[in-house]
Amino acid sequence: MRATRLILLGGPGAGKGTQSKRLLETLGVPQISTGDLLREARRAGTELGNQAKSFMDAGALVPDSLVVALVKERLAQPDAAGGYILDGFPRTAAQAAALDDNGIAVERVVNLVVPDEVLVPRLAGRRICRECGSSFHVDFHPTRVEGVCDVCQGQTYQRADDSAEVIPQRLRAYVEQTAPLVEFYAARGIVRTVDGQGDMEAIFARILEALDR
Ligand code: AP5
Ligand code: MG
Repeated sequence: MRATRLILLGGPGAGKGTQSKRLLETLGVPQISTGDLLREARRAGTELGNQAKSFMDAGALVPDSLVVALVKERLAQPDAAGGYILDGFPRTAAQAAALDDNGIAVERVVNLVVPDEVLVPRLAGRRICRECGSSFHVDFHPTRVEGVCDVCQGQTYQRADDSAEVIPQRLRAYVEQTAPLVEFYAARGIVRTVDGQGDMEAIFARILEALDR
């Protein structure tokens, strides 16, 4: 049977968000992106949003306690009962331990592998819709009209952490704090490595295949 309790692992710009959007339609389970939830909290000006701001802008990870509380609350919603796509969580050993401690049994970890020299231009050219959050790329997935979202006609913008100054720090945080989780889950036999380079639809097909084996 196809797995529906998933973690998408992969460096910044690996395509976690892009592929999650496709997966949620096919699998019928929600995407839970901690990055999106934190950006939402910032926009809403909540206490959590204010606490997360300086870490995110510097390309550093937000403290575990804040993120774990956020995910626990989200996973408790009824729409996550049949499965979930964890996009950008867990990102540290402590976050992975929190899933275990709360009895959250992940079935598959999809490790999207993309080399840094491909990640950097993906991040630098990304544009996001201010209204609906759809993601585009100036070269690889351009909007029909520059600066205008294809989905809802909202304005697109560039994430502050997609700047040349912050990208190297995000890549470092991934290598140092998140990449070790591949080994952690590989010991359980649930990691499937997927080549995250090339055509977005081809990558999606590879992920589906990885969920079936
Ligand atoms: P987050 O928002 O999760 O950022 P990230 O992990 O750095 O990942 P991205 O969203 O940048 O990349 P993605 O893999 O989703 O790529 P996408 O599909 O958009 O986190 C941001 C910050 O929040 C963190 O730095 C941290 O501060 C905080 N945070 C979040 N979670 C946390 C946690 N658990 N613990 C602590 N702190 C946390 O694709 C990128 C671009 O490439 C797009 O433009 C897309 O169109 C394009 N693209 C995608 N696929 C392809 C392809 N195959 N070919 C060409 N272009 C492609
Ligand atoms: Mg993302």
